[in-house]
Amino acid sequence: MMTFKNIETLKNESMNLSDKIYIFDTTLRDGEQTPGVALTVDEKIQIAQKLNNLGVDKIEVGFPASSKGEIKSSKKIKAMDLDSTLVGLSRSLQGDVDAVLDADLEYVHIFIGTSPLHRDYKLKMSKSEIISKAVDTVEYAKDHGLTVEFSAEDATRTEKGFLYDIISQVIDAGADFIDIPDTVGVLTPVVTRELISDIKDSFNIPLSVHFHNDFGLATANTLTAIECGANQAHVTVNGLGERTGNCSLEELVMTLKSAYDIDLGLDTTRLYSLSNLVGRLTGVKMPVNKPIVGDNAFAHESGIHVHGILNNSSTYEPISPEMVGHSRRIVLGKHTGANALKSKLKENHIDLTEEQFYKVFNEIKSLGDSGKCVTDDDLVAIAITELASARETPIEIKGLSISMGANVSPTATVKLEIDGVEKETASTGVGPVDAALNAIGDLIEDTLHIELEEYNLEAINGGTDALADVFVICSDPSGNKATGRSINQDIVMASILAVLDSINKLLLIYPNQ
Ligand code: KIV
Ligand code: ZN
Repeated sequence: MMTFKNIETLKNESMNLSDKIYIFDTTLRDGEQTPGVALTVDEKIQIAQKLNNLGVDKIEVGFPASSKGEIKSSKKIKAMDLDSTLVGLSRSLQGDVDAVLDADLEYVHIFIGTSPLHRDYKLKMSKSEIISKAVDTVEYAKDHGLTVEFSAEDATRTEKGFLYDIISQVIDAGADFIDIPDTVGVLTPVVTRELISDIKDSFNIPLSVHFHNDFGLATANTLTAIECGANQAHVTVNGLGERTGNCSLEELVMTLKSAYDIDLGLDTTRLYSLSNLVGRLTGVKMPVNKPIVGDNAFAHESGIHVHGILNNSSTYEPISPEMVGHSRRIVLGKHTGANALKSKLKENHIDLTEEQFYKVFNEIKSLGDSGKCVTDDDLVAIAITELASARETPIEIKGLSISMGANVSPTATVKLEIDGVEKETASTGVGPVDAALNAIGDLIEDTLHIELEEYNLEAINGGTDALADVFVICSDPSGNKATGRSINQDIVMASILAVLDSINKLLLIYPNQ
């Protein structure tokens, strides 16, 4: 990437990057604290498996003291024997550490509030009481063989003197990692630089950061902390977490990879499917413009951009969608250019003359001007109408009669004109619609073998004279599909016309099948 100075120079001149940066994922703990989100044991297992496959170093699986379900899910995840280290959250209470031990975990994340607000309004404890609780709990966890990460909750609103005091005392008590939570996301990059550089200069211990996103700065602040020597970042999939969430896993990992050229050894092609799984299981859908995993992350509409993308995707994409397992999408609308439309028609195997092409182009533009977004199905329908207006419809219905009687299968006699030649046959079926469609199948056998993939019947208005609205999807032997629709007073006729509509589209778009 082009910068005034190249990234390697910047790394040497103004960064203090650690040789190893650990990714500590807390989707299953802080992410689950997203308002309205609760995961079942099975859902936690599915997410843990995917996080492990992605290759994150640590997974905070939950808060074992908070419920029996948390202990159960932690135990089950532990039994999966994953490569990632599993972590359990604990307040500065021996009982919470016991719950982490009960959950079969070997790594505990102990925290206690340290800011004046937490001391006075939540804990109602003095500074010395807080320090002794933290130290006792860290010592207790170490005595029980656990690896300990200690968090000074609300660290970024804590007086420097007290923050450094508690950090140094928990280090003396045996803490292995110190974590700095920006609990309500008040940091900015410049303050982060000051804070993390100073902590790194003052303590010789692996340093972690846990930054919330209240002002949309969690990823920027976490990157700044990493530039200043932080050894570990707490992240969540899709940036989930309390309120507006935590630093997003996918944003951090991909920025480190593409802008900083730091390979964390993760299989980034799994990011998009992980994001989708978490979105589905938590019910928190990503906005379309969410970086890396949003629907629009690799979507293009404007003519100028699509033209560039079709020549070289790097013109308007900083990374390729394949790098994160996503895909590129060309969207049609009022900004569409001729190149985008040509590529879309090619994708859909539709061949138009120049005159037809510009008719379709103008139709799409005017739909866009009226505020509509043109889907692939809309495009196929518009192009087909254009093709059909220039060509004879290949198959037309010329006659239909149905005979039914008690205890005999209904018989349909259907007459079709296929490429100008009339053909007639009779066929039976479980009902009159089935009989008529069987007859059509027999009549067009030599022209095209079709499968009826979907059949949908709806009545418009109630009553015995209701109109039948039939929607179908048929496919040809190459797997090409086309929709068909018809509204008629007679169910059998509506079905035949819908199927013929679909077959005619297949014949017009894919004439060589
Ligand atoms: O945001 C926070 O302060 C936390 C702590 C439990 C570390 O999530
Ligand atoms: Zn948090």
